Amino acid sequence: MSESTKSSWQLWRDRRGHLSALRIATLALLLAPFAKAAFEASEIAHGARPLNELIHRAGFWALVFLGVTLAITPFRRVLRYGNLVDIRRMLGVGTFCYIAAHLSLFFADQSYDLGKFIHEITHRVYLIVGAIAWIGLAALAVTSTDGMVRRLGGLRWRRLHQAIYAIALLALIHYFQQTKADVTVPTFAAGLFLWLIAYRVLAWWQGTSELSTLSLLALAVAVSIVTFAGEAIGIAIAFHVSPLRVLETIFNFDAGIRPGWQVLAAGLLVVAIDAVMSRLRNRSVRQRTVAAE
Ligand code: HEM
Repeated sequence: MSESTKSSWQLWRDRRGHLSALRIATLALLLAPFAKAAFEASEIAHGARPLNELIHRAGFWALVFLGVTLAITPFRRVLRYGNLVDIRRMLGVGTFCYIAAHLSLFFADQSYDLGKFIHEITHRVYLIVGAIAWIGLAALAVTSTDGMVRRLGGLRWRRLHQAIYAIALLALIHYFQQTKADVTVPTFAAGLFLWLIAYRVLAWWQGTSELSTLSLLALAVAVSIVTFAGEAIGIAIAFHVSPLRVLETIFNFDAGIRPGWQVLAAGLLVVAIDAVMSRLRNRSVRQRTVAAE
């Protein structure tokens, strides 16, 4: 077996075959929900609907890892750590493993009856939406190998993989549709995905790969406002009230912290990290300049 083939299945090694702490940490992260479920196995088994509980867990973590995969591009810039791109494929394939488990568990929940399984998926709108997202993610996972990148050519491969944004949108719609009552967590998730996409749009619009700390601040505020507005409009439609009346309650923290605040806090955290990293970089540039003089 050649060295490169050996290191491609040894996920804990980088492309040069060296042990990689970053890859080991990513593997641990990807396996953590699995380990948590194994640890809580008895609690899950004694719950009302164990299979349904596992379907929910697999779907939730698939969405989380989809978000983490999309966060690689902004975070390698904010952290000034280009090497982060090394784990993107691993995270993408990990996401696919969780949606594969999600669908397999759903099949098990339908008592492995293929007819019932297909009937359910084709007769419920939220499952049709989930199925389209599923097929999209499968297509991206299949084409994620080096061989497929070569076969498709860089440009076509990149265009195909841009479908990830549409897939993320469908996955979020599926999440909202299946949520019965409180949409706080799906709204928070939607706000974070909006930030991830808005970051790219702003970087493209400004013609830069690295947003300034000020742009990140503007992004955090703008995405938080859109999240507040989106939530207010959603509640207004669902409960036939004025969205302005909903917005009046955003400073009322008795019923919990609204997703708009949570999204703002996440955005401001990125701003703080960026400010620290930018200071550290400037300091090291100054030190190198002084050393060279
Ligand atoms: C054919 C494809 C799919 C099927 C059949 C399916 C099925 C389901 C089912 C049955 C539920 C639970 C609904 C309930 O208890 O009422 C669920 C929830 C969920 N699914 Fe899917 N799904 C599919 C695709 C996806 C994809 C592609 C994603 C994301 C990448 C996803 C993410 C989720 C999430 C986040 C939840 C809610 C989890 C929670 O409650 O925290 N699903 N799905």
